Amino acid sequence: MADTTASSATGLANPLGDELRTTRSVKPCVVVIFGATGDLTKRKLVPSLMGLAKDGLLPPGFAVVGFARRNWTDESFRTELADGVRQFGRPDTPAHFDALADAFTFHQSDFGDRAGYESLKAKLEQIDRQRGTAGNRIFYLATPPSSYSAILQNLAATGLSKETGDHFARVIVEKPFGRDIHTAVALNDQVRAAFHERQVFRIDHYLGKETVQNILALRFANGIFEPLWNEKFVDHVQITVAESIGVGSRGGYFEESGIIRDMIQNHLMQVLTLVAMEPPAAITADAVRDEKVKVLHAIRSFKPEEIDEATVRAQYTRASFGGEDVKGYRDEEGVPKDSVTETYAAVRLEINNWRWAHTPFFLRAGKRLPRRVTEVAITFKQPPHLLFEGGKPLQPNVLLLRIQPDEGVALRFGAKVPGPDVRIRDVRMDFRYGTAFGGETADAYERLLLDSMLGDGTLFARADEVEEAWRIVDSIVNGWKQSKRRPDEHAAGTWGPERADALLGPGRSWRKP
Ligand SMILES: NC(=O)c1ccc[n+]([C@@H]2O[C@H](COP(=O)([O-])OP(=O)(O)OC[C@H]3O[C@@H](n4cnc5c(N)ncnc54)[C@H](OP(=O)(O)O)[C@@H]3O)[C@@H](O)[C@H]2O)c1
Repeated sequence: MADTTASSATGLANPLGDELRTTRSVKPCVVVIFGATGDLTKRKLVPSLMGLAKDGLLPPGFAVVGFARRNWTDESFRTELADGVRQFGRPDTPAHFDALADAFTFHQSDFGDRAGYESLKAKLEQIDRQRGTAGNRIFYLATPPSSYSAILQNLAATGLSKETGDHFARVIVEKPFGRDIHTAVALNDQVRAAFHERQVFRIDHYLGKETVQNILALRFANGIFEPLWNEKFVDHVQITVAESIGVGSRGGYFEESGIIRDMIQNHLMQVLTLVAMEPPAAITADAVRDEKVKVLHAIRSFKPEEIDEATVRAQYTRASFGGEDVKGYRDEEGVPKDSVTETYAAVRLEINNWRWAHTPFFLRAGKRLPRRVTEVAITFKQPPHLLFEGGKPLQPNVLLLRIQPDEGVALRFGAKVPGPDVRIRDVRMDFRYGTAFGGETADAYERLLLDSMLGDGTLFARADEVEEAWRIVDSIVNGWKQSKRRPDEHAAGTWGPERADALLGPGRSWRKP
């Protein structure tokens, strides 16, 4: 077993020193990327691996095999990846790629061709001998979901998914994980036919973000927040994932998923569970995921007749936004003129347990909203007796967890305006990650790739979490299908349709970050 050291895999110095080292032990391994000629590999996976190399977090025995159909050579594969690291990697990572380039090899085969897996097996054994990767493998499915089945079957049939002795074999599965509960259950069955649950890492890159992990730190490393973190003190919670871009050239793909499948089923539900869960007994994969899944169990499915009251869906329409005349969703390439696919959705969820009864959680996601922002706003109740401003309700206290951009935490509270009268105005206490800790933040994929090498599944979704999230989302999608109401509309560059305000109930309003 080899510890990570500050200059382990590439032999180059780690400029950030010991700060980023992990005390956990990363074993030598080979990462096999299925779909290695694709966009995800070039833009995210390899630049993130090089981020780990820069921080001295890759093990000394390390290699990557790219598996895809195209007629590429090792050389052309490396040239393409080097270009990706230059374009999308952190500063200085290209030098780490150059130092490690010969660890990257290409394996040409079709996913459905058994012989390609037999030759992959032989190649992996050769790499073990040459690079000391010791029979440890991670299979990354960076492919369209339609390919998962063939890959999983072939990995099982050739014995590549089997763990022998203390050698590990793990699989990382990309989103989307199914498109409803039936396809997710079927996919989980296929995954389980090849791998044990402990070998499976379902990736949701939101969980790799430092600020998402900070939700757990804020709640459970401090004594002051948790006593207030319940229905007695919290009026409601808003979770927002807003994008300013439209669907661009992905109209055809988006039309099949809509914002509810693309964002809410995975990212927003994951953030919701971290905000709402009970304290786990330990920060271990199963203890954390047991508590997260209990939150989902406590949210009941919607009946179709409830859906127009509990949700709002909408599409963006043509408008002038950011100095540009932008198209409406139904005019985008690949989108039918009569599309009812939502580009905006807001949902009111109730968590039926002792902690959260009577405290609604409002989830909202959309494209072509005014800004790209992800945040959680915990809005507190009014004080029991209003002494100031003639007894009028004041602006509520808000604890704001900013996940992106300007990562940090802010607390809004009332303060006395200086002067002879007692007037109250909102002020903010602000913690910014960048200011407090400095340095560059690693990409979410870096953390998740490292955790998969370490075999730590805490930040990955377990089968039951994914299925429970689909159960809730399916009930919304089914309600929309049965509803006579078409999606509302909102002009591109605005914070959603008017009807979304009514969803919150009296005295509440959506934040406009
Ligand atoms: N791109 C992103 O930023 C992003 C973000 C989040 C999640 N994801 C998910 O990640 C996965 C991959 O996305 P992507 O954008 O990288 O896809 P992509 O650009 O379409 O790449 C697909 C890859 O699969 C290979 N492939 C397809 N069919 C094959 C076959 N029968 N045999 C061998 N190789 C085959 C292609 O190889 P050839 O071209 O050589 O045939 C290519 O390398 C998807 O599940 C996507 O939803 C992507």
